Amino acid sequence: MNPLNHVAIIMDGNGRWGLKHQKSRNAGHKAGLKTVEKIIKESIKKNIKYLTLYAFSTENWKRPEKEKKFLFNLLENFLVNRIEDLHKQNIKLNIVGIKNFSKKLNLLLNFSEKKTFKNTKLQINLALNYGSKSELLYAFKKLNKKKEKINEKNFIKYLQTKDVPDPEILIRTGNTKRLSNFLLWQIAYTEIFFEKKLWPDFNENDYKRIIKDFMNIKRNFGNI
Ligand code: FPP
Repeated sequence: MNPLNHVAIIMDGNGRWGLKHQKSRNAGHKAGLKTVEKIIKESIKKNIKYLTLYAFSTENWKRPEKEKKFLFNLLENFLVNRIEDLHKQNIKLNIVGIKNFSKKLNLLLNFSEKKTFKNTKLQINLALNYGSKSELLYAFKKLNKKKEKINEKNFIKYLQTKDVPDPEILIRTGNTKRLSNFLLWQIAYTEIFFEKKLWPDFNENDYKRIIKDFMNIKRNFGNI
């Protein structure tokens, strides 16, 4: 049995799902949120301690205004409606990325982080306006400015994922095999699962199968 503390997910395929089912990309985002809820539940059942979800990348700003507005609204409603219950379930919400959204959304994100800060059952790292390259550049610049010795220990202090162990599993749904500027440092030894299903179709059983497959992998970390 491999230890499993942290699962990271690139939730890809919402747009395609929405177009296919309801002729609207945004319908796919709405459906994608339901999958988020299912995966949170299953993560708790599996006693996973960290779940990192890529919800909005630094590159996603290129999308049409209408879609961005929809996504931010969805997130706002999610926080307003669900934070109390997440808190009751002892879930901690942590934002990874730079919070430069509307004043309202920034306030809500800060409020949710503060409210759930001490929770210990599961930490959800919501990657929002996150990009791995800018995260790494920031860390390099910090090290340089502080004239600290360049080593892993000093470097990772300046990553947005500081205090979070590297993920053992990375899942990307949506039948695309790329990393899209996600956790490039942190996934050095992560087991990667590319799934054909679009994110709204992904479910608990798919998640359980991946975890089972992961448990059967012989992880050598360069050893034999
Ligand atoms: C990628 O699919 C998905 C996103 C950029 C947004 C992810 C958002 C959610 C799952 C819902 C909101 C989540 C929370 C926690 C409030 P895509 O749109 O790139 O799909 P495509 O490849 O089919 O175009």
